[in-house]
Parts: sequence; structure tokens; C-alpha cells
Amino acid sequence: MNRRTVLATALAAAVTLSAPAFAAKPLVIGFSQVGAESEWRTANTVSIKDAAKKEGVTLKFADAQQKQENQVKAIRSFIAQRVDVIAFSPVVESGWDTVLREAKRANIPVILTDRAVNVSDTSLFVSFLGSDFVEEGRRAGRWLVERQKKTPDAVLNIVELQGTVGSAPALDRKKGFEEVIAGNAKLKVIRSQTGDFTRAKGKEVMEAFLKAEGKKINVLYAHNDDMAIGAIQAIEEAGLKPGKDIIVISIDGVKGAFEAMIAGKLNVTVECNPLLGPQLMQIAKDVVAGKPVPKRVVTQEGVFPAEVAAKEFPNRKY
Ligand code: AHR
Repeated sequence: MNRRTVLATALAAAVTLSAPAFAAKPLVIGFSQVGAESEWRTANTVSIKDAAKKEGVTLKFADAQQKQENQVKAIRSFIAQRVDVIAFSPVVESGWDTVLREAKRANIPVILTDRAVNVSDTSLFVSFLGSDFVEEGRRAGRWLVERQKKTPDAVLNIVELQGTVGSAPALDRKKGFEEVIAGNAKLKVIRSQTGDFTRAKGKEVMEAFLKAEGKKINVLYAHNDDMAIGAIQAIEEAGLKPGKDIIVISIDGVKGAFEAMIAGKLNVTVECNPLLGPQLMQIAKDVVAGKPVPKRVVTQEGVFPAEVAAKEFPNRKY
């Protein structure tokens, strides 16, 4: 081999060796999910995983099984792994200051998806993408106020199935609903308890409500569709007709709720859109590229009463 060939071979080898170093490094996102408590949550997880795949993002996914301590552990592990971005949907609103300060110290941007946190320093996260839960509660309340006009003289006794204690959607949906019905002497919340956003718990708590209040219950307001679907079962098992003997109002707009509306068992669902994956990927890319990102992105949503359910069902994506 002459000197020239040796040089050319060495150069080729150097180029081959260094090529991967110049290839674009995939963005790495550590995502801590609440759990798998509802149809909504399943759709949200699928949306995030699909969007990551489509965008060539390496997603480190951790399921917290509805426990804050698991989310804190997952976030610490993402920090230790030096991911590019941390995203999470917080189980509860409070108790995040310490771990988010650790992420900030490590220079890892944090994006909140779906649920908010209650922190003293809002620079601990770069963006919050998700629904306006207070407005969702108001929409549920406004629907009931309109419905009540059909029977203006009747007092409607309401039972409320709250979401997970201390979670942003449970606190805000309660607040928004109460805000709208406040001062209306004909709309009374007679029982309110958590059903933890699950069908099983929704059924169990509704059984207890029915046992305690029986036919006094006129309206069920459930903070999500899954609890409403569980409660519908309890109502039927008690020999009553959901959607008729008891007006059923819920939130999310999952396919299961549309099926229940078509069957005449649910009166209205207020939409909460779980398909946050594509927007999350875009925000994460922009943050890493040093572009400015909005501090708050509110998801656009509607209200679907039973009357439109059959027509809307084929358009539903989750
Ligand atoms: O945070 C969104 C809420 O969490 C959805 O309404 C509910 O179904 C889920 O579990």
C-alpha cells in the first residue's frame, strides 16, 4: 500500500467513525403519566406514544399508577438520565416544588400536560398544555341550568362524583360547576364524594349514594365519563333508569359516553380532549431549539348532549 492509499484509507475510516457523531441526535423526552385509570387516559397515552414515534422522539415512558411518589421517582430518574425534556401529567396539584427545582438546577425544561401544578415559582415549568377544567365544570353547570328550565318549579337534588382528591380536574370541575349553580335555590348538591376517576369506584360510590338517598336523587354530576358509566350500572341495579329517573352529566367525551348517550343512559358529556401528543412534541422541539413557547396552551373543546350523540359518534377519535 503506497503512502497515498494509506492516507486515503485512514481518511475514509475517520469519516466513517465520525459520521454518527454528526447525525442529528434524537430528542429524548421523559414522560411521567398519571396511570391508566380511564378511557381518557388510555387515549392520552396512545396519543403521546404515537406522536413521539412519528416525530422520531425517544420517549422514556413511566406509568405512576396514580401515585405522586412514583411520579417524583420517575422525574428524578429522568434527571439522572439527562433527558432533554421532562413532561408529566401531575396526579395531584401540590407538592412539586422540590423535584421541579431539581430539574431546573439540572437545566432540564419541564412541560406540564393535561393537569396543572400549584407551585410558588412558575418558572419551574416552561409550558402547560391542557384543558380549562374550571370552564368544563361551568359547561356542565350551564347545561343543567338550561335543562332545569323544563321543570322550573322542581328542586333537583344533585349527587357529585369527584375525581381524584387534590387533582386539578377534580378541584376545578367542582369549582366551575358550583360557580354556575350558586344562588339557584332549585339546584342542590346533596352528596359529593370522590370516585377517583375510575368506573369501579364510580359504581361503588353511586351505590352508597343510592342507599343513603334513594329516589331523592335527581341528577348525577360525574367529573369523568368512566365514573358516570360505573354509576349508570349502579343506577340500573337499583331498578332505576339512568338518563330518565336520574339525569346523568359527565365530562371527557370518550366513545363509551357516546354509546351510553345513544342507549339513552347518559344525558350529556362535556368534552375534554386527550389527544395532546402532537402539540407536546412541537413544544418540546421548540424549547430545545431555543424558540419561545407559550406558557399556557388551552385545548379547544365542545359540549355533546345526547341529542347529537348518534350523529357525532362516527367522528369521535377516542
Ligand atoms: O386529567 C384529565 C382527567 O383525568 C380526565 O377527565 C379523566 O378521565 C382522567 O382520568
